[in-house]
Amino acid sequence: MRHALKGNLIWTEEMGSFRVLKDGYLLIEDNTILGVSAKKPENVPVADFGSSLITPGLYDLHLHAPQYMFSGLFMDEELLEWLDKHTFPLEARFADMDFACKAYTAFADDLKNSCTVRASVFGTIHRKSTLLLMSLLEKAGLCGYIGKVSMDRNSPDILTETTEEAVSEEIRFIDEASSLKNIKPIVTPRFIPSCTDSLLSALGAISKERNLPVQTHLDENQSEIEWVRELCPESRSYADAYERYGLLDGRSIMAHSVWTTEEEMDILSSHDAWVAHSPSSNMNLSSGIAPVRRFLERGVNVGLATDTAGGSSLSMFRMITDSIQSSKLRWRLQDDSLPPLRFSEAFYIATKGGGSFFGKAGSFEPGFAADILILEDSSEEMTVLAPELSIEEKLEFYAYRTPDRRPIAKYVDGKRII
Ligand code: GUN
Ligand code: FE
Repeated sequence: MRHALKGNLIWTEEMGSFRVLKDGYLLIEDNTILGVSAKKPENVPVADFGSSLITPGLYDLHLHAPQYMFSGLFMDEELLEWLDKHTFPLEARFADMDFACKAYTAFADDLKNSCTVRASVFGTIHRKSTLLLMSLLEKAGLCGYIGKVSMDRNSPDILTETTEEAVSEEIRFIDEASSLKNIKPIVTPRFIPSCTDSLLSALGAISKERNLPVQTHLDENQSEIEWVRELCPESRSYADAYERYGLLDGRSIMAHSVWTTEEEMDILSSHDAWVAHSPSSNMNLSSGIAPVRRFLERGVNVGLATDTAGGSSLSMFRMITDSIQSSKLRWRLQDDSLPPLRFSEAFYIATKGGGSFFGKAGSFEPGFAADILILEDSSEEMTVLAPELSIEEKLEFYAYRTPDRRPIAKYVDGKRII
């Protein structure tokens, strides 16, 4: 069906500049954007959202659904201690389907009510509860990828599979997930320290045979990188190790990439692989500040991510402002050759940038997926300057001042879910 939405349209088609249409019309047919218009389209129903902002949806390239229940807790550790002390014991509880159902129902509700439209999500090693998570997110109307996590070493017994189990459960998971329409499986080796060489090679082969994307962690923390150096003495780098196992291509998401070297950037860009920049998590776990500007200069694909629960917020607007703020600290304290991100750039990364991982998504150009947010003009109730603000300024104000607010309406792949 053809229809239109009216409001203050704002989106980015390229890095660094906003497109704006005040009191404009966004024309949609079924699940696709047809374009924007300043004039009222003829013979088409119009939903008038007044002075609300109308933007593309936001795309979360990396988060852990089982960790949502403890987001905001346990922030005094660095990565490896945080995994051992808190994350692994709590993830082990997802063997219990009643527990998983409670935790994943709350997660699916909150993700539905957020500004995220599509996401790439980690479950746990448990096939059944990860399939339950998939069906809850599909029922919520969201789109994206969910992975059953693979782990066969250096983890507590209650969260470790044998290599054979990890491979057979992964294949069973992929087969059983095939009945879902909008939530698809993604091959998910946790990271090199948790997976033996034979498991990593088997998962690389499965992703090729089944034509599935891959998500994992790369270069997050210096002790982790040192450990990978010991575990993979034959590899020149962490990224080189993933390449050797056949886990890098244009549909691979490497979460964090805080300490990625120039040589590793060459490897990532030569495969057209993706970095999921997780600024909130990188601060909480004292991991460091990723060189996002350098990735962009080097042609490495970048999306933004909450990394819940390393990240303490599900809000992708918070990730936009956290990515800007952390880039300013990096510029001032670490490397003054990389200027900080501007608001329009971070917004682009959160929309069309990360959206491109899911296909044509994250813009109002014709042919893009109808992933749309209707956002209350929060400036009107919160600042005396409201009448003087431009649409760009209203959006910036929204991101910094009301990042957790529930959208007035949200369309995912053309379907209104809020
Ligand atoms: N590296 C391996 N597992 C994890 C995880 O659960 N969270 C984060 N932030 N990094 C990881
Ligand atoms: Fe993570």
